[in-house]
Amino acid sequence: MNDVTLLGAGKLGSALLRGWQRAGRLPGRAVTKSEASAGRVREHFSIPAGTSLHEALAGTRTIVVAVKPHQWLDVAGALEGWGDGGGTLVSVMAGVEREALARHLSPAVNVVRAMPNVLCSFNEGVTAVSSGAPEHVRALFAPLGSVLDVAETSIDVFTALTASAPALVLRLIEGFADAALALGLPADSALAVAAQVFRSTGAWLMESGEHPAVLGKRITTPGGCTIAGLLELERTRAAVGLADALLVTAQRARELGAPHSALQKL
Ligand SMILES: NC(=O)c1ccc[n+]([C@@H]2O[C@H](COP(=O)([O-])OP(=O)(O)OC[C@H]3O[C@@H](n4cnc5c(N)ncnc54)[C@H](OP(=O)(O)O)[C@@H]3O)[C@@H](O)[C@H]2O)c1
Repeated sequence: MNDVTLLGAGKLGSALLRGWQRAGRLPGRAVTKSEASAGRVREHFSIPAGTSLHEALAGTRTIVVAVKPHQWLDVAGALEGWGDGGGTLVSVMAGVEREALARHLSPAVNVVRAMPNVLCSFNEGVTAVSSGAPEHVRALFAPLGSVLDVAETSIDVFTALTASAPALVLRLIEGFADAALALGLPADSALAVAAQVFRSTGAWLMESGEHPAVLGKRITTPGGCTIAGLLELERTRAAVGLADALLVTAQRARELGAPHSALQKL
């Protein structure tokens, strides 16, 4: 990955670097805004890192853009003229559409949108890549977890379903842990049990290939405690609330890249 430059090493950029490091596939270099962040990259990942995108472009065939959507215009100018002989720009920015990216780049540059999540940091991530992306882009994310080919118009949906979803799932785990705490488990065991139940249930679902409702029925006995809990869940409409939360998240993802949006800096 010597010809790959990572632009931005914040929360997501660092997660990608950690995953690539574990897989032995670090990019050639990274560029950040501040020298402090560049220094952190050099220290933790032992790759060249600095604050000059212009300098980093020599020898770069692929750029992974992991700056905030509203920061794109600050960096776009420095990319003028880059990739005249061919190159690939992979944007992991939420909401910034392909046209808005291509507008600032040489027509010879292949522009690809991708949506990874922070779980890439330990190689269990999910990355949605816009369909038609060249194989070398898929190969960038393959060591970080699973890679899904999706229509470009669906990328914002995946911002909700994969990039933001871990925060929602963590909130659910917290709810489980609170219940375990209320039932008398020590705090650390409560959290460990909650995390393990989520992890194993996800693994069970994937392993079985069944619908969640089928598996749920399998462990629900007449007059038992599980049905009592499930009915309470229905009463609170928690599943609908979760679906609504993801719908709002996807809407927000679409708004983030909109020019002049009041939400751009969020
Ligand atoms: N966070 C997630 O879970 C997640 C998931 C999927 C997609 N994304 C997308 O990933 C992008 C980054 O998100 P984030 O949460 O990682 O943001 P972040 O923590 O704020 O990181 C932004 C990074 O961009 C760098 N940067 C900003 N302006 C720059 C410039 N002019 N030149 C060079 N580097 C510059 C910053 O450098 P400094 O460190 O020096 O300030 C920082 O390293 C966003 O577009 C977001 O939509 C995020």
